[in-house]
Amino acid sequence: MGSGLILGIESSCDETAAAVVERGALTRSSIVASQISTHAPYGGVVPELASREHLRNVVPIMRAALTEAGCGLSDLDAVAVASGPGLAGALLVGITYAKALAFAEGIPLIAVNHLEGHIHAVLLQSRESFRQQRLTAQLGMPGEDDGALPMPALALVVSGGHTHLYLARPPVAGAEVGAWHYSLIGRTLDDAAGEAFDKVAKLLGLGYPGGPWIDHLAQFGNPKAVPFGFAQIKTKAHLEGKAPRTKGARTAPIADLDRHFLFSFSGIKTAVLRYVEVHGMRASCEARQRALMALPNPTWKDAQALCDQQTLDLIASFQHAVVGDLLRKTFAAAEAVGAASVLVTGGVAANRELRVRFTAEAAERGLPVAFPTLALSTDNAAMIAAAAWPRFLAGDFALMSLEASPRLTLG
Ligand code: KG4
Ligand code: ZN
Repeated sequence: MGSGLILGIESSCDETAAAVVERGALTRSSIVASQISTHAPYGGVVPELASREHLRNVVPIMRAALTEAGCGLSDLDAVAVASGPGLAGALLVGITYAKALAFAEGIPLIAVNHLEGHIHAVLLQSRESFRQQRLTAQLGMPGEDDGALPMPALALVVSGGHTHLYLARPPVAGAEVGAWHYSLIGRTLDDAAGEAFDKVAKLLGLGYPGGPWIDHLAQFGNPKAVPFGFAQIKTKAHLEGKAPRTKGARTAPIADLDRHFLFSFSGIKTAVLRYVEVHGMRASCEARQRALMALPNPTWKDAQALCDQQTLDLIASFQHAVVGDLLRKTFAAAEAVGAASVLVTGGVAANRELRVRFTAEAAERGLPVAFPTLALSTDNAAMIAAAAWPRFLAGDFALMSLEASPRLTLG
């Protein structure tokens, strides 16, 4: 082993990202090219456009990551790439490029599960802040595992494509060196939480992606105005295969999962739609959408000025209900499985109400909780390079025949 530097590449959805991370613990660079403005006019990610943008961006982004890290290709110990889950064509761009680099430089290729990457975003972040505290206090450099969260950790991965609970355990010293272990504890049966944010925002005539718009506008509404409830999830239909199989439900069997840790967000989306219809709000939603589309760069302030109090109350109530459901099930699961800490990761982990309420609940329970920085919450490549480090140590390398795994699961 040489420098301990791993180049990470991420292209699973609508962000092209490259990063250099040292020994899974120190981010030397992290560059992300977002495609939001490409997809925004369509109200969602268009797979063909995503692949085209990745092709356009991957080389300059990788070069920028190396320049910012102050290193060259010959300094790298390995190249890591997200191999799934995600859009097949989008994943393929990153994988093909990573293979070419690894082959040309004669260094190992490491395949990383995108979901494992999101979990390692938080571990990387907690190691980096611990290191910073030690350096500020002039206590010297920490060891490699210092500053990591108490284990095992209950991880809530909550993004546009996932709402999954995993119990994450670090490698057992002396046994399976390098391999983290993940057990699936719960997941959504239908829409992911981020998908619900996006769909509700679209319905209300707000921009794409919807989460950040709702997050901002919710603070001006009354979260108790509309009492959205989450009915107890009935799994019989799902177990018998009679329930509709939606995007989020395609993967991983649920037979072994405790139904108390299953999520369902398609109901609240329909409840918001019904509220809009019953209260005659549809015309104002359409007018808001037209007004925002007509602006070159609409801001939160523009959106806020276009929302009456009833709409702001609806937004705040929706967010309050979703965050409450995530909070109750996550902490119940943490207690049930005896987790020593909780971590929340993925795009929705950027949500302010979620961070405030999870922090308060964790303090009450005396359980450490951690989130990634905002930059590490959404898709990035530092998390891919960080997750690759234990695999690098274990010699767990991918073959040149590595393919994209759009439906890859974890745990
Ligand atoms: O992890 P991510 O960047 O991509 C996926 O792997 O899906 O997550 C994107 C999702 C989108 O659904 C977006 O609306 C949501 O994360 N999101 C938020 C916030 N920022 C992003 N949801 C709620 N509040 C936010 N502040
Ligand atoms: Zn993601």
